[in-house]
Formats: sequence, C-alpha cells, structure tokens
Amino acid sequence: MRVAMLTGGGDCPGLNAVMRAVVRKGETVYGDELVGFQDGWRGAIDGDVVPLSIATFRGTLPRGGTVIGSSRTNPYKVDHGPEAVKSALADNGIDALIAIGGEDTLGVASRLASDGVAVVGVPKTIDNDLSATELTFGFDTAVQVCVDAIDRLHTTAESHNRVMVVEVMGRHAGHIATWSAIAGGATVVLVPERPFDIDHVCGLIRQRHSRGRYASIVVVAEGAQPAEGTLALQSGERDEFGHVRLGGIGDQLAQAIEERTGFETRAIVLGHVQRGGTPTAFDRVLATRYGISAIDAVHDGDFGTMVALQAGDIVRVPLEESTAELKLVDPKIYEVAEVFFG
Ligand code: F6P
Repeated sequence: MRVAMLTGGGDCPGLNAVMRAVVRKGETVYGDELVGFQDGWRGAIDGDVVPLSIATFRGTLPRGGTVIGSSRTNPYKVDHGPEAVKSALADNGIDALIAIGGEDTLGVASRLASDGVAVVGVPKTIDNDLSATELTFGFDTAVQVCVDAIDRLHTTAESHNRVMVVEVMGRHAGHIATWSAIAGGATVVLVPERPFDIDHVCGLIRQRHSRGRYASIVVVAEGAQPAEGTLALQSGERDEFGHVRLGGIGDQLAQAIEERTGFETRAIVLGHVQRGGTPTAFDRVLATRYGISAIDAVHDGDFGTMVALQAGDIVRVPLEESTAELKLVDPKIYEVAEVFFG
C-alpha cells in the first residue's frame, strides 16, 4: 500500500517516534511505501508530498518536533479544501492516510472519514485533553519540563521570600498544571475547569507565609479564568480553528497577588519550552506503540478509527469519539493537589 502521514496542530515531543514506528513496520512487515504531507493539512491541500523511509527517521527517536512540519491549517476553512485533500490523495496514488494530531486535526480527519476517506488517527497533544484516550503522547514530557522548572524556581523563590507564578499550557483543561503542581509541590494550582477567586488564592499564600519565611509557587494553566467579576483579562487574536491566542494570565495574576498581599511576586511563562525538545522515555514508548497500532489498523482496513490507550492497552475507537468532548481534569486528582494548598 501507499500510505501517507501528516502531523497537524501544535508540535509535540514524540511525533517523530510515531512516524518512525509506522515506517518501520509498514516497510518491513507490510511492504508499504510511505510518504508525508508537509505541514499538516496545508500539505494535504496543496499536494505537497515528501517520500518517507526508514532512513528518513534515523536518529529522530530523541528528537522533538516533526520532520515533516506542522500547521494549524483547516481544510474546512479553505475554499474547496476537502476536495483538494481528496484530489491530492488520488493524484499521488495514496491508499490510506494516518493523521497525527489533536482535537482540531482529528476533527478534520473525522469529517473526511465520514466522507469516505481512508484515514486512521493518532492522538497527539501535550494538553492530554482528548477524551477517548487515557493519555496522549507529549503530555509526560511537558509535565517533566514544568516540574524541572518548578524545582529550580523553589530555590530562587525561597532565597528572596517571593511568590512565583508559573504559567503552563492547557487551553481548555488543566492536566499539565495539576500534574506539575502535585509533582512540583505548588501552593495552589489554577485550572480552566475551576474559575478561581483571587482572594482565596491570596488567602492561601498569606496562610503559607504566616508560618515563617516561606515562598510560594502558584501554577496556573494558560486557560484558567477568574470567577466572574473578579479580575478582568485581556483577549488575543484567533486562529483558523477559532482559538484565541492565550498567554498572559500569569503576568496579570502576579500583579494582582502582589497588589493584594504585598509579597514580591514574579511571573514565569513556560510557553513553548514545554513542547520543544526530546521526548521522555515514556512518551517515546507510547508514541511507538501508537505508530505500530496505526499501521496495523490501516492493514486491517479499520478506517475512521483512532488508536487510543485504555486500561494499559492500545485499542481502536471511532474517530468521532476522539473529538466528541474534551477530557477535563478528574476532580479526584485535583483533590490530591488541594491537600497541599497553602
Ligand atoms: O498544542 C496545544 C497547545 O500547546 C496549547 O496548550 C496552547 O494553547 C497552544 O498549543 C499554543 O499554540 P501555538 O503554538 O499556536 O502558539
């Protein structure tokens, strides 16, 4: 078979590991010919195809990013986009497509699948907010990056008796924030799922500082929102999938905390550092398992599905389930973080 792959949305550590696994099993076991569409759906619309082989992926297992590039292009927002994708598949003799992406990329894959395109999805996002899978690859790496940073911030915060506000990614869900807060020993964590009360946050910080010369670490997900009428936040531009460009809550929160408590406060935005660089061993293994399972699904003709981790096994679920709803932070794990608040 001639099988194409594309990587869409924000990049993520482990993308190369997925493709490396697809190519390895595709070439050696199934005798496939593999190609890639450059820059996500952009390349699928323009028919921008590159050959992929075992040789392409030599040395890429520890490498972050994606060797075929990514974009946030949405074919359904481009004139005749879906038709262009179908033509590119036909013109290049492609029998099946493996789409590696998050909510947006898989949403497009799901629509194309219901339109008869032979597509299999692989769940990717550092945010870990896809409901049909217990874990997306990239999440473990992102949490590790945050925890490494928080460990370092503890010592400088303690030396200066400061509050450090650490802004992490997490647009709709606070998985990265919650896990980082637990592993990093945060004073409080603010997530999109629970609008926060700034006075409550300041109360926790005061409580901690009243016990002596203490510093505080406040972890905030970029999509966290203050409870209505408590703090006004500014908003940014939107991308093709309608998402507002986030980033900035950390600074605003730091200012509000300093004003209310009088404690010197600094904001640190970890930003894209969380998405860059080498995947953890866990993410390499998960990504490899997803890649193997995706090429198997192609050869079973199991199109319109996404590979997913459920109870430790890699299973296949309908693509539409992957984007039906967002996976939010389980209240039980948030409650674990809460035990250490203040
Ligand atoms: O991929 C998801 C994500 O990392 C979000 O957490 C974040 O809001 C967004 O990507 C940032 O996207 P961009 O790279 O377009 O700034």
